[in-house]
Amino acid sequence: MKIGLLGHGVVGGGVRAIIDEGATWEVRELEIAKILVKDESEMVDPRTTLHAEDILNDPSIEVVAECMGGLEPAHTLLKKALQKGKHVVTSNKKMLATYCEDLFETARENGVTVHYEASCGGGIPWMASLDRTRRVDDIDSFRGIFNGTTNYILSRMYSEGTDFEEMLKEAQELGYAERDPSDDIDGHDVRYKVSLSCVKAFDTLQNIQDIVTYGIRNIRKEDLDWAKANGYACKLIGTGAYRGDFISACVIPMFLKKDDVFANIPLNFNAIESRSKTLGPATFVGQGAGSLPTAHAVVQNLIDIWKNQDPEINDKSIRPIDNTLHTGVFYIRTKKIALFADIMDRRISEDAFLTRKISLVQADMAVKSAVDDTLFIAEVAE
Ligand SMILES: NC(=O)c1ccc[n+]([C@@H]2O[C@H](COP(=O)([O-])OP(=O)(O)OC[C@H]3O[C@@H](n4cnc5c(N)ncnc54)[C@H](OP(=O)(O)O)[C@@H]3O)[C@@H](O)[C@H]2O)c1
Repeated sequence: MKIGLLGHGVVGGGVRAIIDEGATWEVRELEIAKILVKDESEMVDPRTTLHAEDILNDPSIEVVAECMGGLEPAHTLLKKALQKGKHVVTSNKKMLATYCEDLFETARENGVTVHYEASCGGGIPWMASLDRTRRVDDIDSFRGIFNGTTNYILSRMYSEGTDFEEMLKEAQELGYAERDPSDDIDGHDVRYKVSLSCVKAFDTLQNIQDIVTYGIRNIRKEDLDWAKANGYACKLIGTGAYRGDFISACVIPMFLKKDDVFANIPLNFNAIESRSKTLGPATFVGQGAGSLPTAHAVVQNLIDIWKNQDPEINDKSIRPIDNTLHTGVFYIRTKKIALFADIMDRRISEDAFLTRKISLVQADMAVKSAVDDTLFIAEVAE
């Protein structure tokens, strides 16, 4: 099966390497026919081209694998590929979470499919496990440590007793965090993954802006000191739950009890768990990023297509997000503590308090109306 590869960087280079090596008979059925690169200096392989049309207009190419990143031209190129009757595989969570409805619709109209295992959890077979579980069971909910960068920072802050800026700098020096780390530390990367996990787990499309999202940009040593002293670890958690006409979905730092399996996921590892009636909790732990682990997931999807095995044919319905049924106790540190009297249960320091049990919607409204750009919020496990 001939493949057109868009992008030849960390992930794309890994896909090319795995397929060229052809370690198994299934991989040997795949062939990288053409590779789109951006610059002449990258034309080190005879299959490279600077023109996307060379791939889109080649009728022998059945599948386009996108590993470029960014919204455009990735979205437009994949849409054109689908319109030309080619299946697509992407590792690009930001683009797919943003244009999910459009690309799924185009795929359906043209009798082809969109595959996205690598977009969520890197090499962890998370999407495939959801498909497998759903052959027997409905998924009730999922939760995950979906971002290795923030898990690295939180793990190191926790073990070393250091502050956020120091650990962010270390993560950048080690190549775990990008120079502009906003997508990771503000929770947007996890938001895309929660959105795509909802697509796979519940067959629902939702507006990503409605996924309540808090990151770790404002976390301080004193927040972790309180967590540690009270028997908690801190992790950035993305969750989704099926609630009939609605989906609840959010991204929020959580103070987890130390015996929770997620509390002990170290450094840049990811962990993701689904819950369903007959299987109960099923947890996956592994490398959520990296060239070969992520490329592995792309190649798995390519083999699915070759074997005609991907069940990505279910209709998707648009479901609104409603977090009123997501209730909990929240730790909030703010310089405007006087504004939170309505939801406060007990004060734990000069500028931090625990809420009474309230919905995430109430907590979010109180936080947004306080307009404090230093505020840190975490949900406290019961
Ligand atoms: N790295 C990971 O571990 C990982 C894990 C999971 C998912 N992902 C996702 O996978 C995607 C790719 O990530 P990556 O780490 O492989 O990024 P990367 O190393 O920057 O690779 C992207 C490649 O695509 C090229 N490119 C960008 N725009 C292009 C265009 N218009 N035409 C031709 N080539 C173009 C880039 O060229 P230039 O460098 O010249 O711009 C670069 O070589 C992203 O969506 C990312 O979120 C990555």
